[in-house]
Amino acid sequence: MVNSGLHTTLSMKGSIISWLLLAISTISIFYDVAATSASVECLGADQRSLLLELRDSLVFNTSLSTKLVRWGRSASSWSGVTCEDGLVVGLDLSKEWISGGIDRSSSLFRLKFLRSLNLAFNDFNSSAIPSGLANQPIGISQLVLCQIWRADSGRAIAPDQATWRSLKLEKPSLRSLIGDMGELRELYLDGANMSVEGSEWCEALSSSVPKLEVLSMNDCSLSGPIDASLLSLANLSVIRLHLNNLSTTVPSILANFSSLKILSLHECGLQGEFPQKSSRYKHFGALTYHLTNFFSLSGSIPSSMENLSELTYLDLSWNNLIGSLPSYGASRNLTFINLSNNALTGQITSVGWENFLNLEYLELGYNSLEGDIPPTLFTLPCLKHIWLSNNRFSGQLIINPNVSLYGLADLDLGSNLLQGLIPPWIWKLRNLRYLNLSSNIFEDLETPLRNLTSTLKVVDLHSNMLRGNMLPLPSQPAYLDFSSNNITSVIPDNIGDYLSSSTVFFSLSKNNFHGSIPKSICKAAYSIYLEVLDLSHNLLNGTIPDCLMKSSLKVLNLRNNCLSGNIPQNIPTTCALKTLDLSENLLQGHIPLSLANCTTLEILNIGNNQIEGTFPCHFMAISSLRVLILRSNKLHGEIGCAHRPCTWQMLQIIDLSSNDLSGALPTSLLASWEAMKASVDFDQLHYELNLTNSYYQDTVSGTFKGVELELVKILAIFTSIDFSSNRFEGPIPYTLRDLKSLYFLNLSHNAISGSIPPILGNLHQLESLDLSWNLLNGTIPAQLANLDFLSFLNLSNNQLVGSIPDNRHFLTFSESAFERNLGLCGLPLNKSCSVARNRTEEAVDDGNNDDSKKKWFFLGIPLGFVVGFWIFCGPLVFIQSWRFAYYRFWDKVLFRH
Ligand SMILES: *[C@@H]1O[C@H](CO)[C@@H](O)[C@H](O)[C@H]1NC(C)=O
Ligand SMILES: *[C@@H]1O[C@H](CO)[C@@H](O)[C@H](O)[C@H]1NC(C)=O
Ligand SMILES: *[C@@H]1O[C@H](CO)[C@@H](O)[C@H](O)[C@H]1NC(C)=O
Ligand SMILES: *[C@@H]1O[C@H](CO)[C@@H](O)[C@H](O)[C@H]1NC(C)=O
Ligand SMILES: *[C@@H]1O[C@H](CO)[C@@H](O)[C@H](O)[C@H]1NC(C)=O
Ligand SMILES: *[C@@H]1O[C@H](CO)[C@@H](O)[C@H](O)[C@H]1NC(C)=O
Repeated sequence: MVNSGLHTTLSMKGSIISWLLLAISTISIFYDVAATSASVECLGADQRSLLLELRDSLVFNTSLSTKLVRWGRSASSWSGVTCEDGLVVGLDLSKEWISGGIDRSSSLFRLKFLRSLNLAFNDFNSSAIPSGLANQPIGISQLVLCQIWRADSGRAIAPDQATWRSLKLEKPSLRSLIGDMGELRELYLDGANMSVEGSEWCEALSSSVPKLEVLSMNDCSLSGPIDASLLSLANLSVIRLHLNNLSTTVPSILANFSSLKILSLHECGLQGEFPQKSSRYKHFGALTYHLTNFFSLSGSIPSSMENLSELTYLDLSWNNLIGSLPSYGASRNLTFINLSNNALTGQITSVGWENFLNLEYLELGYNSLEGDIPPTLFTLPCLKHIWLSNNRFSGQLIINPNVSLYGLADLDLGSNLLQGLIPPWIWKLRNLRYLNLSSNIFEDLETPLRNLTSTLKVVDLHSNMLRGNMLPLPSQPAYLDFSSNNITSVIPDNIGDYLSSSTVFFSLSKNNFHGSIPKSICKAAYSIYLEVLDLSHNLLNGTIPDCLMKSSLKVLNLRNNCLSGNIPQNIPTTCALKTLDLSENLLQGHIPLSLANCTTLEILNIGNNQIEGTFPCHFMAISSLRVLILRSNKLHGEIGCAHRPCTWQMLQIIDLSSNDLSGALPTSLLASWEAMKASVDFDQLHYELNLTNSYYQDTVSGTFKGVELELVKILAIFTSIDFSSNRFEGPIPYTLRDLKSLYFLNLSHNAISGSIPPILGNLHQLESLDLSWNLLNGTIPAQLANLDFLSFLNLSNNQLVGSIPDNRHFLTFSESAFERNLGLCGLPLNKSCSVARNRTEEAVDDGNNDDSKKKWFFLGIPLGFVVGFWIFCGPLVFIQSWRFAYYRFWDKVLFRH
């Protein structure tokens, strides 16, 4: 149940690299809106003074502004201004943090020749801009008030972050805003919150802006239906209404817009069968047919679409389309095909791919397509982007070695059933930048003949059956994932040279890498780029290089190797680690005090080593800590930390099991774990990853500055306390009472005494409770029967007496959960209470001696068996597809009994 939640979350996310690529394509395909360049020598003096006057009247944040602040500093510093013949014709004041200052008297309205105005992504509140604009006749033909870049099917996202306040269009209304803009040809109001009734917006548009050609009102809280009055806008060539809730059927009037070129209606609540009548498409020349909605278009792709010889762009992704791929033999002009995320079946070999001479982009991911991938695909002259992941394609990728290779840039064949050799021709593609062959059955990796091309940024080969010892290492990779293969090798000595120039993510996890971690890794660790280094689950030995703990790494995972020696000391205060997993090694010595300098740590796992010393109270300095695992070490002493303020308000998981800790359970510490008290799910762990690698930077220059990428790290909503197999004594603390969202509590194999407090019945989320092998006495409180989710209980080996609560839920537990107590009776034990009560006296004597001897015997030896949960901190990366793939890192928590 919890796991399915985890996967749901995962499937909503995808690779940020792909997101970025998408953003790039989105920009070039859809949003060539605002001309920002200004060869401004042409500006007349009067225009310059109007601009300066405008700047002085605007209220904006001068420290965040990048255009306005520079105006007038030199002849060429008029960014955002477009001019023609000395006159200002375009003004792009987007992202200038303007919060006011446009009113009736604004000099904006004296820029009489202004045709294009972009005020998107500012900080206007509901009154500031629209009132000024609405009351001034202005001969504007392009108005951009808001623009939203949609990363994916998810929510709308602004370029920097979704922190921009959405603009409200209530007062004035849409009607009064555009009322006098009779010349308006392009209107962008994406993301604005306009609360209009029904199809009022259609009427407002049709009566006010008859010349409108581009209507972009994505994510505007519009309601439906789409009114026929819209038809009076005869020039409309672009309609984008996606991410609204029009809750209506596919409107037939759409077919009446004779100039329509782009129609984007996905996720706008349209329902119904895919319109099959070919007449519907008669006029749709070079149409961007993007009619996705809440997964509700069904049926097969109409064969009539084959006749659309002029169709250049086809996007029917995210529907319920079934059947096999139509051949589109006549659609020579198609440049873009996206049929991903449907339920298409069958082979694609019969499609006449050789006819798709103009095809640049092909996305068929997330269907159930099977059979060979036709080699013809790889020889199409214009095809640059192939996304075929998550299908059932099989066979080997063999193409004629004499065929000339073309400029393929992105190749995503992940999550299929492809096998054999990773074909050598792939390494010869000179323009390849993204390669995902993960989750297939590839077995061999032929050594590339020469160095890999430096264009290659992303290589994802995880989860294949690759063996041998050669790694294909491009010279400037951003992302390398070779995890979960069978590679048997030492890590190349010069690995750091490859990783130091731009690598953000590097994983060799789950292979057979042996030998020590090469010193050259320090070059990468000290580079400003590397954020994730995962060498977990290999056979590496030697010590942990000091530099790894002095780097700017965010995630360091060395779990499950044979590393020995101490944890590096002298960790600087610049430590930026969020996840540190050194578990399952042979590490010795004490936990360095300086680890407390890593104040951003969220996940710390040093479990299953040979660490000595006392409980690290100095970690109280790490207030961000959410997971602390110190299990199976040699820690001793009490864990009160009374002299330190309790700061672990975020703590979700603590595992101190199988150490030699003693004393009372930490009453006040428990009381401070706020995250375990919350009655609602808390946020997933996540952090932003800055990927300022020049390649991406270049591609998006001028549009995005400092692209912020989000590396999503997911931790299930588990909360867990495992103090088992230590020497804790005294009663169960009453402060446990408040940990209402605790899932897992294990206090077994200690010397805890007193009775089981009825307050445990407050822990309504509890799924697992193990109190076995302690000195608990008294009866089992009836309140435990309130724990509806309890699926594991063990109270065996204590000194409990009386009847087991007579409750259907308790009958589901096995007898062994209650055995070896002083005098428990009732089901599921094979001892009825009537008999038992008569024999109580007898039992007390026998049981007492017997049980307590065993207890101390068991406490004396470390137990190998610990009921608990396993945490896999291995960064697993799921690059799914072009559009639905995010850079994904997750900490998977499995809950096991
Ligand atoms: C869309 O609107 C309809 C009716 O107004 C409502 O029943 C439905 O829940 C809405 N759907 C979404 C996804 O908001
Ligand atoms: C749309 O076009 C069809 C035929 O092409 C016509 O019958 C229908 O009346 C038109 N609808 C409107 C609202 O103009
Ligand atoms: C489609 O292709 C044909 C020739 O193959 C060409 O004549 C026509 O102009 C193209 N149409 C478009 C919209 O590109
Ligand atoms: C309870 O713990 C005891 C001792 O560890 C074990 O023998 C027994 O199988 C456990 N019972 C259950 C239901 O796990
Ligand atoms: C219950 O206990 C009695 C005697 O103690 C024994 O004869 C019987 O086989 C037990 N039944 C089960 C199901 O274990
Ligand atoms: C206890 O044993 C006595 C005889 O020793 C018997 O009379 C009585 O019914 C028993 N009690 C119960 C509750 O079975």
